[in-house]
Amino acid sequence: MRRKLVAGNWKMHGSLKKNAALLNSVRALSPGLDCDIAVCVPYPYLAQAQALLDGSKIALGAQNLSEHEAGAFTGEVSAVMLGEFACRYVLVGHSERRSIYGESDALVAEKFVAAVNHGLVPILCVGEKLDEREGGCTEQVVARQMSAVIERAGVAAFAKAVVAYEPVWAIGTGMTASPAQAQDVHCAIRAQVAALDSGLADGLRILYGGSVKPQNARELFSQSDIDGGLIGGAALVADDFLAICRAAI
Ligand code: PGA
Repeated sequence: MRRKLVAGNWKMHGSLKKNAALLNSVRALSPGLDCDIAVCVPYPYLAQAQALLDGSKIALGAQNLSEHEAGAFTGEVSAVMLGEFACRYVLVGHSERRSIYGESDALVAEKFVAAVNHGLVPILCVGEKLDEREGGCTEQVVARQMSAVIERAGVAAFAKAVVAYEPVWAIGTGMTASPAQAQDVHCAIRAQVAALDSGLADGLRILYGGSVKPQNARELFSQSDIDGGLIGGAALVADDFLAICRAAI
């Protein structure tokens, strides 16, 4: 039985004041929730979040990392630096990184490797765009995104990783994939990994992301291959985020 994980992706939102209120509320109400919870915050807030979450079971994550360890890479942040703030998770290949910042499958694979090599758990985001879904190539696109990482990192690296299926057309749009649509893709992702290592595939957590709300979370999370969620907008509202966490139990 895979333990569910609910990870908040704050994106470029927050302020010292708002973060404190949000994290204190989530922290106060999360004990007793029998699922893993994480928050992926913007870099400048890592120290604040680390301090506010100290001693709680809520894990800290970042939203991106450099593929390099150190050097002349202005503006970049390495896995080693994230580790210094007790980051456990890091998003890799979020669709906004792929589409707005031009991150290729190959670069995403390098970032995945950098995370694993430094003891961070990458949350590898994959997903198709609307035209790709309408063109009937959803599974092909997701398989290609997965293959690029499997080939570079080796399937064994997925023992220390999480995958998040996020259909691009569902992110921030209010258009959620139906539970059946999401389940089909999650099942295909697991089958792709199972073809190489079935035991590993059984334990691999595959999250769904894209307009998850308290109203739709329970049905999504009840699908057999959906092991939790990657939550954007709803992770900024403590009551909503906690309701989604409760739906994962
Ligand atoms: P959303 O974002 O929940 O606001 O759709 C999800 C994500 O981008 O990770």
